[in-house]
Amino acid sequence: MDTFIFFCNGNKIIDPNVDNEETLLSYLRTKLRLTGSKWGCAEGGCGACTVMVSEYDPEHDEISHVSVNACLTPVCSLHLKAVTTIEGIGSTKTKLHPVQERIAKSHGSQCGFCTPGIVMSMYTLLRNNQLPSMEDIETTLQGNLCRCTGYRPILEGFKTFTKKNGCCKEQANGCCKSTVNSTGDLSEGNSSINGICSRLFEPESFTPYDATMDIIFPPELIMILKASKPQFLQFIGKRLKWLQPVTLQQVLDVKAEYPDVKFTVGNTEVGVEVKFKNSFYPIICSCTQVSEMNRLDVDAAGVRIGASVTLTRLYKFLQVQQQTLPVEKCKSFVAFLEMIHWFAGDQIRNVASIGGNIVTGSPISDLVPILMAARATIELVSTKGNRRIVKIDNEFYTGYRQNAMRADEVLSSVHIPFTNENEFIYAYKQAHRRDDDIAIVNAAMRVRFDSSHSKVTECSLAFGGMAATTKLALKTGKAVIGRAWNQSLLEDVCTCLADEMSLPPGAPGGMVEYRQSLTLSFFFKFYMTVKNHLAQFDCKSSKHSTTDNLVAFHRGEIMSTQLFQEVPSNRSPNDAVGRPIAHTSSFQQATGEAVYVDDMRSLQDELFMALVCSQHAHANIISVDFSKALALDGVHAYIDHKDVPGNNLIGVIVRDEEVFTKKEVTCCGQAIGGIVAKDRKTAQRAAKLVKIEYEDLETIVTIQQAINRQSYLGEPKIFQNGDIEEGFRKSEHILEGEMRVGEQEHFYLETNSCIVIPKGEKGEMEVYSATQSPSDVQHDVSRVLGVPSNRVVVKVKRVGGGFGGKETKAGLLAARAAVASHKLNRPIRCVLDRDEDMGSTGTRHAYLGRYKVGFSNDGRISALKLNLYSNGGNSVDLTFSVMFKSLSHADCCYNIPNRKITGYMCRTNIPSNTAFRGFGAPQSMMLMENIVNDVATFLKISHEKVREINMYEEGDYTHYMQKVENITLRRCWDECVQKSNYEHRKQKVVEFNRLNRWKKRGLYIIPTKFGIGFEARFLNQAGALVMVYTDGSVLLTHGGVEMGQGLHTKMTQVASRELGISIDKIHISETSTNTVPNTSPSAASTSSDLNGMAVRNACRAIRERLVPFKKDNPKGTWEDWVISAYKKGVSLSSTGYYENTKANYDFGNNKGQAYYYYTYGVGVSEVEIDCLTGDHQVLRTDIVMDVGDSLNPAIDIGQIEGAFIQGYGLFTLEEHRWSPSGRLLTKGPGFYKIPGFSDIPVEFNVSLLAGVPNDSAVCSSKAIGEPPLFLASSVFYAIKDAIASARSDAGVDGIFRLDSPATAEVIRMACVDEFTKPFPESEPGTFTPFFVRS
Ligand SMILES: Cc1cc2nc3c(=O)[nH]c(=O)nc-3n(C[C@H](O)[C@H](O)[C@H](O)COP(=O)(O)OP(=O)(O)OC[C@H]3O[C@@H](n4cnc5c(N)ncnc54)[C@H](O)[C@@H]3O)c2cc1C
Ligand code: FES
Ligand code: FES
Repeated sequence: MDTFIFFCNGNKIIDPNVDNEETLLSYLRTKLRLTGSKWGCAEGGCGACTVMVSEYDPEHDEISHVSVNACLTPVCSLHLKAVTTIEGIGSTKTKLHPVQERIAKSHGSQCGFCTPGIVMSMYTLLRNNQLPSMEDIETTLQGNLCRCTGYRPILEGFKTFTKKNGCCKEQANGCCKSTVNSTGDLSEGNSSINGICSRLFEPESFTPYDATMDIIFPPELIMILKASKPQFLQFIGKRLKWLQPVTLQQVLDVKAEYPDVKFTVGNTEVGVEVKFKNSFYPIICSCTQVSEMNRLDVDAAGVRIGASVTLTRLYKFLQVQQQTLPVEKCKSFVAFLEMIHWFAGDQIRNVASIGGNIVTGSPISDLVPILMAARATIELVSTKGNRRIVKIDNEFYTGYRQNAMRADEVLSSVHIPFTNENEFIYAYKQAHRRDDDIAIVNAAMRVRFDSSHSKVTECSLAFGGMAATTKLALKTGKAVIGRAWNQSLLEDVCTCLADEMSLPPGAPGGMVEYRQSLTLSFFFKFYMTVKNHLAQFDCKSSKHSTTDNLVAFHRGEIMSTQLFQEVPSNRSPNDAVGRPIAHTSSFQQATGEAVYVDDMRSLQDELFMALVCSQHAHANIISVDFSKALALDGVHAYIDHKDVPGNNLIGVIVRDEEVFTKKEVTCCGQAIGGIVAKDRKTAQRAAKLVKIEYEDLETIVTIQQAINRQSYLGEPKIFQNGDIEEGFRKSEHILEGEMRVGEQEHFYLETNSCIVIPKGEKGEMEVYSATQSPSDVQHDVSRVLGVPSNRVVVKVKRVGGGFGGKETKAGLLAARAAVASHKLNRPIRCVLDRDEDMGSTGTRHAYLGRYKVGFSNDGRISALKLNLYSNGGNSVDLTFSVMFKSLSHADCCYNIPNRKITGYMCRTNIPSNTAFRGFGAPQSMMLMENIVNDVATFLKISHEKVREINMYEEGDYTHYMQKVENITLRRCWDECVQKSNYEHRKQKVVEFNRLNRWKKRGLYIIPTKFGIGFEARFLNQAGALVMVYTDGSVLLTHGGVEMGQGLHTKMTQVASRELGISIDKIHISETSTNTVPNTSPSAASTSSDLNGMAVRNACRAIRERLVPFKKDNPKGTWEDWVISAYKKGVSLSSTGYYENTKANYDFGNNKGQAYYYYTYGVGVSEVEIDCLTGDHQVLRTDIVMDVGDSLNPAIDIGQIEGAFIQGYGLFTLEEHRWSPSGRLLTKGPGFYKIPGFSDIPVEFNVSLLAGVPNDSAVCSSKAIGEPPLFLASSVFYAIKDAIASARSDAGVDGIFRLDSPATAEVIRMACVDEFTKPFPESEPGTFTPFFVRS
């Protein structure tokens, strides 16, 4: 056994007993207590754990730095390497690194959970390239996700590192970019004109980046490496042997000794298998250091690549070949370069090997299709030293992830031949998301011609995603030999391919029609590209135009403007309201110092609980056998319903959720019990050993199934106004239709987590929870334990994103942990893994809408009947309230005199769905906007006209009889039309679409009106506590939770105004139920409004008390007045309370006011779609939003952009897929795709409406958390607009159904054409689908 040595942040770590099963992430977080690297997904899909790994190569005297995902990096693989974590590059105690400073100051950190990972990716880029381009930055961030910011501020902050955009400081009076240009245009760097400001941060204040200040590679490690030779390493553990040979012979010896050895290089396949597929390999052999397997050579026939060569090294090597060798030789290298760019993210590419990809043989491998098409060969070496060269083809892959390698063979290298001038090769990939996603279908195609280019001599067409292995279409390839490259060949290939690549209706992976049509679309792209190369294309003889750009989207550099009202120059500096102040924790978040629940140090006797969850969607539990789990070393107990001392049923509206299920499970993911063990790993391992026998019952997954079986939660809810029958009678036209709006996973970067600590007296418990609703957690814990609420204290410092998903679900988790804590009298930590969180905590509700609409010739809508069906899941949770919001927002911005809107809430066997930003409004608004769109399409008039003619005016009443007052909708609309240059661009879109057949553009404008206030009247209250200490510092507490939305920053700003002091004197430490009781959830966009007023009232009470002391000492300071008051026995603490009585709606009588006021906004988006693949790109978005007098424009714009991108995910990208038996198939970032850096609009402009104070909320502001989300539907409708153009070219005009999200599949299949027609949808009910949508 070797002693494990590595360097972390310059410190030498020697560990003679290293746990060889541990990942670097858990080693850093638990052993070294470096919690800055976050546990976001543990599967390499989010980048929250990114660190930099540096190596020294003594042979070439070179140091290399790469970013890696610590969650997939086996700690043993770091022997004699140096790791740099977020803690190693800068800190608030010493100095921030410029990357940390810039992300913080440019408002690129909201909840902060993703921030350390993003900082480390950027930091690593700078270590390798001190003056990167924006393209470099976007590529480097492909493997990082953020759910809060919408990415724009991060990119703008990092832009300052580029040569083109950095502040050169060459101007005497500061920033070189802040000069006023002649046009007076703000977008060119002018900071303020006529009180409108465009700068949210000051780049000139940034510390210049000086690479010499970066942490150096440990000199001691250089000395060690220079003095020693590479050695065969062995780390032997209790269960596992970890081996690391350095020569090929040693690899073969290992194989000979341990025939079942598992080889690894990047561990990106093996790591996922071990973590999620329950695999265990007792002998692991890492081939990263084997010199022969790391070689890169050029020979006469092509290039030879060692099996362990990483994709990053391969990319650089092929780039060099492409730059140095003749073009004709490198055509397949170009295809490789394109494909590697779309392969995962940097952190994976930096470690993943070509050999690992080939041997895994995934049917959706991105490399195998090109290797096949390029006629690559591999060299296999046996333990006896025999070498054989094998072609990568249909013979090599023998089944799903199986190949023809012999049991004693190892893959040593890959050979890729050069191409010649008569040869063409291209690769294609279509995934759910362009960046960092596995393919749905990929392909590589190669054709070779005779010297006259008149006949095909060779043709290889390889497809991934169409079978259990990557497949060469041999029949089709043969059929084209000897033929000319013309229209008739194209048609024959399409017929032949459709047959050769056909899929049965229920084929694994689903999406069968789409996948089949992609094979033809890809071939068509290939055909056209080759045709253009051959320069033989005859436009007249073909029905296809050549002007189309058939290349995949590569986005341009981001452009943006943010406009907001400037604070008047005469305002006191001690009034922070209205200023774009950075999030008060942004420096802590950027340095990894910010503490989230799972970052808290473990207590001495703390245990971890892993949940034992149902694997069946609807079943009776026959038996539970946990004996094997209890027998595992380190396991303390199995907990279930029998251990609940109080009540096992909880729920905020209806108590119908079992803390631990007794008898009947009603969804997968429902907790039956919990295993408590010494640590996370042991508890999770043991939980998998619990055996449960089930008796299956009938399962309902989808809304349609629930409708068929009349399975509902409660009675339907109805909102109506006017006389609907009369309305239809008077209508000139009536239309009926249907649309589905899919669910959405919250995907907060921090999963649900809590620590429950028994205090040992009178049933007291202290709970640290990542919740948006501390009082709900308090109630749930007290109820389940059967103790009064005054024994339970819940504390929340910050939450790593909530979006509604931590409102009710956090209480359930804490209640479960509390039962264990009560039973064992030990602190219990319970942190869900990403897959557990996604598989059990519910989502935004999916909706189905059925409508009938009556309207006149000019587009005026007179009657609407709308039935909404939501998928509530297996319990009520917040489904009733969510439906109320849907019903009240189904009007959108339109005044329709006769309406009946009915909401049915379906009970199904999926985890109970819950609150999500917008709370049911986006779904019903989406349906209404679709109705407006259909009306316009039917009448053949512009949709803008239909919108304008029906739009609410001042003084109108909604269908729930609320008067619409102080409406700014028209102003937002007009300003957005003007700022986006809407009319002109609309013409350009028409022109573009006229010239292009296979790429289409769409442009769309959408208004929004969002009611602010809790529907449950009693929730519209808040409390605060202000304490002033004798040194003048202020500790502020209020009932709201900081989850990235900047609430604490805004509350500090309100307190600054009320107390007249700088925000530096004010601190918010946490939210806790023992400082402010009976808090309402931080939800419904109301937190600033309600808590802000409570803070204001508390501060005003203190201010009043200080008045006499100010009068006595008018020239004194705040500190003077405070100490004088103290000495005179004046109380320096005050509570503040606020109740909003405006929201008093009476549902039964349809009377009163449902909301305090409305937030308005308008968005315009332009998109381009690829009709052949369904891919799309948002070219530009403009938003104008009324936020009243913004409390903090940087935070408000951050909320607008973040909400917009989240809405963009909802309407275009994010999709859960369920097995027909109710198992969630999309349980992690690998399968569930939220928007990434490259999905945001290429141009993204946001402006806040000026001069619109709102007298209904604190400091004349407006709530902003939820309202902008719906504006992302402008992208959806722009896509629909583009599809309509494609359909029109195909001769299909008129109304068509497009469900949300408009994924690539939905877009492609809606663009009906000759490549989709061969694949009609199979009749539902005639086959079992691979997956269903809920
Ligand atoms: C977040 C994420 C994103 C991904 N994205 C993509 C993507 O976009 N496209 C794609 O194609 N793949 C993707 N993958 C899959 C994976 O990264 C690739 O297959 C990668 O190339 C595997 O290389 P590795 O070195 O990490 O393999 P490892 O996990 O180390 O090994 C994989 C398999 O190969 C075997 N093996 C490795 N080397 C040898 C050898 N020399 N001889 C014999 N057997 C050997 C191992 O025993 C193991 O069975 C992704 C994975 C993750 C986690
Ligand atoms: S935690 Fe490592 S990538 Fe998500
Ligand atoms: S700030 Fe990025 S996930 Fe919250």
